[in-house]
Amino acid sequence: MSKMCGIMGYVGNGNGIHATLVGLKRLEYRGYDSVGVGYKKGGDLVIKKCVGRVEDICRRLIPSEDHSTIVISHTRWGTHGKITDENAHPHADCQGKIAIVHNGIIENFQDIKEFLSKRGHQFKSETDSEVISHLIEEYLKTENSFEEACKKAFSMLKGSFAILALASGEDKIVGIRKDSPLVVGIKENESFIASDIYALLPFTKEFIFLQNYDFITVGKGVVKIENLKEGKVERPVEVIDINLEYDGKEKYHHFMIKEIMEQSEVIDRILEKNNGKIEVFSKEISSAKKVFLVGAGSSYHACLYGSYLLTKAGIDSKPIVASEFKHFEKLIDKDSLVIAVSQSGETADVIEAIRIAKKRGAKIFSIVNVYGSTVMRESNDYILMNVGFEVGVAATKTFTSQLIIFLLIYKSIMGEGFDGRELQSKILDLLGRSRREFMEKVVDYLKEKDHVFLIGRGLSFISAEEAALKIKEVSYIHAEAFPGGELKHGTLALIENGTPCIVFVDRENKDEILSNAHEVKTRGGFIIGISPERDEVFDIWIKIPEANEELTIMQVIPIQILAYLLALKKGYNPDYPRNLAKSVTVK
Ligand code: G6P
Repeated sequence: MSKMCGIMGYVGNGNGIHATLVGLKRLEYRGYDSVGVGYKKGGDLVIKKCVGRVEDICRRLIPSEDHSTIVISHTRWGTHGKITDENAHPHADCQGKIAIVHNGIIENFQDIKEFLSKRGHQFKSETDSEVISHLIEEYLKTENSFEEACKKAFSMLKGSFAILALASGEDKIVGIRKDSPLVVGIKENESFIASDIYALLPFTKEFIFLQNYDFITVGKGVVKIENLKEGKVERPVEVIDINLEYDGKEKYHHFMIKEIMEQSEVIDRILEKNNGKIEVFSKEISSAKKVFLVGAGSSYHACLYGSYLLTKAGIDSKPIVASEFKHFEKLIDKDSLVIAVSQSGETADVIEAIRIAKKRGAKIFSIVNVYGSTVMRESNDYILMNVGFEVGVAATKTFTSQLIIFLLIYKSIMGEGFDGRELQSKILDLLGRSRREFMEKVVDYLKEKDHVFLIGRGLSFISAEEAALKIKEVSYIHAEAFPGGELKHGTLALIENGTPCIVFVDRENKDEILSNAHEVKTRGGFIIGISPERDEVFDIWIKIPEANEELTIMQVIPIQILAYLLALKKGYNPDYPRNLAKSVTVK
């Protein structure tokens, strides 16, 4: 069983249960199928865990008066095996005196389990993680201290892990990271540890970003770090001051719609911080012998967009889905520039691609949203999207900001000016209330449908790909995108009376794509046209402003809104779609 989860710990004078639950809520984007908290109460270790969200554990299991100064906690996203109370974290040892939370995968857990079973350990869950608490228990028999037992246990593990452990007799939390993130937050008399700074921002502005094999012992306001490979190490304390003013949902019912609406501000936010960097990237891209773009999900679609623009600028570039990157390894060498695109900066497939490329001698540039993330840290240079946290699982404002960054790079390479105000007013137009009201019509048509096809050519095909992903992610309607000319090579067989087809029309490909729309309509298809101009083939027309290279932004925003409204109509929570997580930290 592998997981990709959020973890948080607290040691201090205050109520750590309350603090970790606040942090966990902010980590739910990493997974939210089950949740758990482990804490010391008197001399005992208490573990509360259940299937569900943070509010479920609060309501069902944790009495509001419960108080503890040493706490570990976890929010989980299971990829294999069942989502059950037993499989939720924390996991205890046989005697219930040690508890651990884990993010990552223990690849050799079967061997460890066998070793431990022979020594009489009994397991309660099906998880790989549970071996960790039992391994610590086992080594406590021979080692002098809890820290030494943890060290020995951690050094046996293969795979990726961020782990926190506590024991009933200890007044500290012990932890380690390898290929899964862990950040320490510092305050007088209090220490916090979490998967990312987002969880910790309500508590502190001072952070230590841990590196692979950093082993930490955390007490009240005291943090000891030792690297299991390098010995004693000093890690800098970084001050990160992020405005939390726009942090909540504000007047919106969901983060997704709040983040969609924030797209009118992304241009200012990008320009505010990154002007110089755009020039650096442009120069480097123009002079590189080979350019590769790598990303996953929506960020991969942004790579397609970037590559399209670079091709237009006469620069050869190859977009590669991060999880497939290793198959292209031979193409990468010291003359290569790899541009990694990632909102979270923690997507495991992207990190792996970066590491492969680095080994081959390539230079790594990245476009990331989360400051301090692994992708940012492992890159030679980076551009920050600077658009604030994105909580909704479906990428919206960060996708648009990735596109704008590529657009700025393209304009800089071409020596063309960029009219930010004009683009902003077009985006504002697309976000207007009347547009959203109009979209209800489309929602009514699509809500009962099982399938929707999307077609476009050139840049519009990239829009179709991203739009299909938005619809699938939050409304669970099967949505599939094709280049307009490709439909007739097979998929046309699926068109029946009333099958919806969203057609993205642009100036350059107008005649051909409209003719593809006719091919669908002739077979009974229902055509939803996204276009600056009306056409008789459209059954519903979604009007968008005229656009050049910013076309994809114009075409995708209406579908973000459509996907959001569809999710609501079907009774789903668009912020937390089933089976998904925002940051996929497993391969
Ligand atoms: C997950 C999310 C997607 C996202 C992708 C890449 O699958 O659900 O919305 O596009 O990861 O994430 P990244 O953080 O690397 O952009």
